[in-house]
Amino acid sequence: MKRTLIATSIAALLALPASAAEYKVGVLLPFSGVYAGLGAHIENGFKLGLEHFGDKLGTDTITMLRDDTEANPGATLAKAKKMVLADKADVLTGIVSSAVLGGLRDFVHSSKTPLVVSNAGNDAATGERCSPYITRVSFSNGSITRVMGPWLAEQGVKTAYLMAPDYAAGHQMMDAFRATFEAAGGKVIGEAYPPLKGTKDYGPYISKAKASGAEALMTFFAGGAAINFVKQYAEFGAAKDLPLYGAGFLTSAAYVHVQGAAADGVIASLHYVPTIDNAENKRFQEGYQAAYEGKLGSEFAVAGYDSARLIIEAIAAAGGDKAKFKGELAKVSFNGPRGPLKIDPATHNVIQNMYIFRNEFADGKVTQNVLATIEGVQDEVNGCKM
Ligand code: PHB
Repeated sequence: MKRTLIATSIAALLALPASAAEYKVGVLLPFSGVYAGLGAHIENGFKLGLEHFGDKLGTDTITMLRDDTEANPGATLAKAKKMVLADKADVLTGIVSSAVLGGLRDFVHSSKTPLVVSNAGNDAATGERCSPYITRVSFSNGSITRVMGPWLAEQGVKTAYLMAPDYAAGHQMMDAFRATFEAAGGKVIGEAYPPLKGTKDYGPYISKAKASGAEALMTFFAGGAAINFVKQYAEFGAAKDLPLYGAGFLTSAAYVHVQGAAADGVIASLHYVPTIDNAENKRFQEGYQAAYEGKLGSEFAVAGYDSARLIIEAIAAAGGDKAKFKGELAKVSFNGPRGPLKIDPATHNVIQNMYIFRNEFADGKVTQNVLATIEGVQDEVNGCKM
């Protein structure tokens, strides 16, 4: 009798699937404030990614927790601690603001909580303050604007004025542009950093930039700030004398339809544009538009989508072993909507293509036409020791 019981239970054990782990994913995004629109796109993309790649989970499961980060480092740190310590999240994802990422770094590092960054470009998080627990699928701030320096210089532009919100991301994006533009023979002749929160009127800043006599205005603005800035720039008629350039978030597919004619002619650099022609982008855009009222999938939505895919592929590779899962995240690589994507083992930042594109307004619609593709953009190690 006893022998039969043991034999039966061994047989039952052998019949069990190899893995059946439950993963809790804590999604931390801005659902209010200047970056609220970005948070919505990232979450939409994340959910679409779960739908498109969820079959790779086998018997493992994902449960989503979510909370609002606004653009508030202190509040986000408290919410992240609650998710990990009280709600037992296995992995965190999201984070839009570089300031919020900076505030979270030490907690995820010391608590050994994997964080998959789906926006915030803070250079230090994959540089001198890198961590084996941080994996970034979005971009680093410097990688976005660095490519514009030599490109603008090649177009014969000799002087530029810089403008961006006054916080880590604004300064890092402008510093990276300045370095490569000046190395290519250009000169930055002025700059301004309006506050991220509360700047409604860019008029005084635009007047000053115009008065500088620069040949180009290089900017970074995103979300509500980008919508306001581009519209006010057009109302000012400033683009005739001082053409507008930017990190591509300036005219994101998330809101370029709201900017409309005001975005016409703006040239920018980014890791994704909806016009990329590959099978993965077609599947992403068709899925996104079908799920979200015909809205175009943006770079924010792609980052959410790719974050879901990265987490799912790492779960699948871990075979039910949660400790192993932590080490699998940075090993994932795939061709996604933006083209080839892989994670640099030295920094855990993403290696990907950058696209320089021009916004063209015609028949009531803005199209983003790619002028140049810079392949496999990879950061220096920048002091990162894993
Ligand atoms: C950032 O704070 O790192 C940031 C925010 C919004 C963007 C890009 C970067 O669109």
